[in-house]
Amino acid sequence: MQVKKAVIPAAGLGTRFLPITKSVPKELLPILDRPMLQYVVEEAAEAGVEEVIVVTARGKESIAAYFQPRPELEKRLTETGATDLLDSIQHASTLADVSFVIQEQPLGLGHAVLTAREAVGDEPFVVILPDDIIDHQPGVISQMLEVSDQYNGGVIAVEQVPWEVIHNYGVVDADDRGNRTHFVRGLVEKPAKEDAPSNLSIVGRYILPPDIFDCLEQTPPGARGEIQLTDGIQLLLEEQDVYAYEFQGTRYDGGTPVGLLRASLEYGLAREDTRESVSALITGLSRKLADY
Ligand code: G1P
Repeated sequence: MQVKKAVIPAAGLGTRFLPITKSVPKELLPILDRPMLQYVVEEAAEAGVEEVIVVTARGKESIAAYFQPRPELEKRLTETGATDLLDSIQHASTLADVSFVIQEQPLGLGHAVLTAREAVGDEPFVVILPDDIIDHQPGVISQMLEVSDQYNGGVIAVEQVPWEVIHNYGVVDADDRGNRTHFVRGLVEKPAKEDAPSNLSIVGRYILPPDIFDCLEQTPPGARGEIQLTDGIQLLLEEQDVYAYEFQGTRYDGGTPVGLLRASLEYGLAREDTRESVSALITGLSRKLADY
């Protein structure tokens, strides 16, 4: 399936990350030196996505600023010969054509995706939640596009999680088809452990047909009183097949301070330019552990 567009919902209040999110959008919080948002735009671009539609809210204008040129800074970096830094600030805007739509009210993830309807038009697209950071080559969207091609249906990324935390997630009721792939029979958003149909939790990557928009139009508020994408996909099942795919890669929960710290440490170990200092940092800290 040729998928050219990605929707990245970034309109949330970031309550799990207050107080910093009072003035800094969660999506711009860094893993090392780059915002989370950049990692997911890179993942989309790697999968062939050419156009990224970011759904933001009023007060989060700095997200758009990140993708705009900074002529004065660029001039200065050119003059001082700081070519690496110059490349790094220009890189984000070369990845894809990034545009923005505003979600006027925080009515939920499903509503945020619906806000992008006009920008997406009548073609399949991907949804990427920028606080689910997943480290793998090839990226999760690339992996999912293969599944979508093979089964000719929508695809949702899932992973098995301990039953004790299942109430934090969307959960699928699914039939194993082998090769990490499951046929989705139903979905439920943030069920109590007793009501969860499985421990396969939804992770923030979706490949969806444009028909999802009609479904979202008809989706009533669900968990937390919000219009949930999970509930919209449940309606979609009446007309289209959807598959759940257990992706390859490590997921970091960039929506919480410790999850983001973990991501920074692991990316710091993986990156050549930071490996030595990050491993020295971890070794030093582990020696100090007994003092706490
Ligand atoms: C959202 C989705 C949920 C999914 C989760 C993954 O929930 O609604 O289905 O499991 O992302 O991160 P949120 O984390 O916004 O509450």
